[in-house]
Amino acid sequence: MRIAIIGAGNVGSALGRGWLGAGEDVVFGVPDPADPKYNSLPRERLRSPLEAARTAETVVLATPWQATEAAVKSLGDLSGKIIIDCTNPLGIGPNGLELVLGHNTSAGEQVAAWAPAAAVFKTLNQIGAENMDKAPLFPVRPVMFIAGDDEARKPVVMSLIAKLGFEAVDAGPLRIARLLEAYGMLWIDQALNRERGRSFAFALIDRSPGQAATPRSE
Ligand SMILES: NC(=O)c1ccc[n+]([C@@H]2O[C@H](COP(=O)([O-])OP(=O)(O)OC[C@H]3O[C@@H](n4cnc5c(N)ncnc54)[C@H](OP(=O)(O)O)[C@@H]3O)[C@@H](O)[C@H]2O)c1
Repeated sequence: MRIAIIGAGNVGSALGRGWLGAGEDVVFGVPDPADPKYNSLPRERLRSPLEAARTAETVVLATPWQATEAAVKSLGDLSGKIIIDCTNPLGIGPNGLELVLGHNTSAGEQVAAWAPAAAVFKTLNQIGAENMDKAPLFPVRPVMFIAGDDEARKPVVMSLIAKLGFEAVDAGPLRIARLLEAYGMLWIDQALNRERGRSFAFALIDRSPGQAATPRSE
């Protein structure tokens, strides 16, 4: 599948490495494909954002939140495409980084409003970028929730997440992005403010019959 990753910073480049390693066809849409700062990426895969999105079935948004509306609107006709929105709507508040929206909307829902004919999914916002191509290195498979309204296309997104080595979990409709963005903020707070570092992930464990491990002896 052709995946266009819009933005090739921390998140975009890590996802590109991960999916290229899994055999996917990835192109990167960046403001200036000739900029030497993209030298670590395969040159032949660099495009303008418009050109990258044009030939892709799936478009991944890996742009700073403040740049995301302009980025989406620069991508041309996104009708029928899958959009994977990795953004967290962050700004600086009195206590440092914080969400600039939530409760009654989300970045994911804003993206859907800017690209109404696309199938928008919120995911890959719940872990630091440096872990996104390293999920198989964790002792337990890290969880990655996916929220989106298009039930027919959701398995495609779940499969792309699983190819990165995550346990892909359906979190429900796109409005659940409100929870996933706050949950992403919890990862950020642990990493930046609670001295946990950046090489951790969240996992989902289950003690129901058929799922539980052998009970530990006390
Ligand atoms: N960093 C993390 O650990 C992490 C984890 C989960 C989610 N996120 C979210 O993912 C998003 C990206 O984060 P990041 O850390 O990867 O940011 P970053 O390192 O600053 O990279 C952002 C990229 O977006 C590009 N960009 C800006 N405007 C663009 C446009 N109109 N069209 C195409 N590309 C454009 C930038 O290009 P130029 O540099 O050339 O301007 C840059 O390559 C953010 O919304 C963030 O909240 C980040």
